[in-house]
Amino acid sequence: MNFQEKLEDARRRFFPIRLPGKNSGAGLCVDEATFREAVTEIYADVFPERDAYPYNPKSPELVQEYSGLHAERILIENSEGKVVGWLKGRMEDPTTFYLGTSGLLPEYRVQRLAALVYSRLLEYLEDLGYERVTSQHHPHNRAAMILQLKYGFAFEGMSLDERWGPMVKMVYFFDGDRRAEFERRFGFEQYPKGP
Ligand SMILES: CC(C)(COP(=O)(O)OP(=O)(O)OC[C@H]1O[C@@H](n2cnc3c(N)ncnc32)[C@H](O)[C@@H]1OP(=O)(O)O)[C@@H](O)C(=O)NCCC(=O)NCCS
Repeated sequence: MNFQEKLEDARRRFFPIRLPGKNSGAGLCVDEATFREAVTEIYADVFPERDAYPYNPKSPELVQEYSGLHAERILIENSEGKVVGWLKGRMEDPTTFYLGTSGLLPEYRVQRLAALVYSRLLEYLEDLGYERVTSQHHPHNRAAMILQLKYGFAFEGMSLDERWGPMVKMVYFFDGDRRAEFERRFGFEQYPKGP
């Protein structure tokens, strides 16, 4: 089975993600055009202080080249089919999937919707063969980092990026050997290990 066939098979098995509760909806895998249109509509309500997509690459050829990498775009809908959030990421290297952006409208937060979609997405990425998942967050973004710490992510690094400001990098390991190696190198025995 080539990667495209594997992807289609896994998408059929993992999506749509059914969301529980009275406001139940779904998490859907969509293409870039559908994703952009839907996210542009709610972006300013999720990030009120930011312009939608403030950073645009200048070279269409490089954008085209980059778009060949495996990417996932997930829209979260409520029970009426209105888009209320998103997750998007792409292959960082052949072992690593980078979760680049996520967001939920304020009235849909702290209801474990993000947690449910994250955990299902992690299962899906492991099924595809990824060994690690990374993400980056502003150091003051408590909600995003707490959510990921609860799901077993660890802190991996920090960068100073002129586009996004200071960013803390987090990593999640599917591979037990890799987690053990991370703990061997960076673990501090006086603190209990995470999940
Ligand atoms: C990041 C985001 C998607 C997380 O969604 P959420 O609705 O808060 O997450 P959930 O309800 O699924 O919460 C997951 C866990 O984190 C906890 N949590 C969430 N926000 C928290 C906060 N501010 N302080 C403490 N705990 C928090 C929840 O209590 C929950 O814990 P539980 O599993 O024990 O119940 C959402 O906060 C958001 O859209 N933020 C604005 C956009 C953003 O910052 N995106 C990320 C950019 S990198």
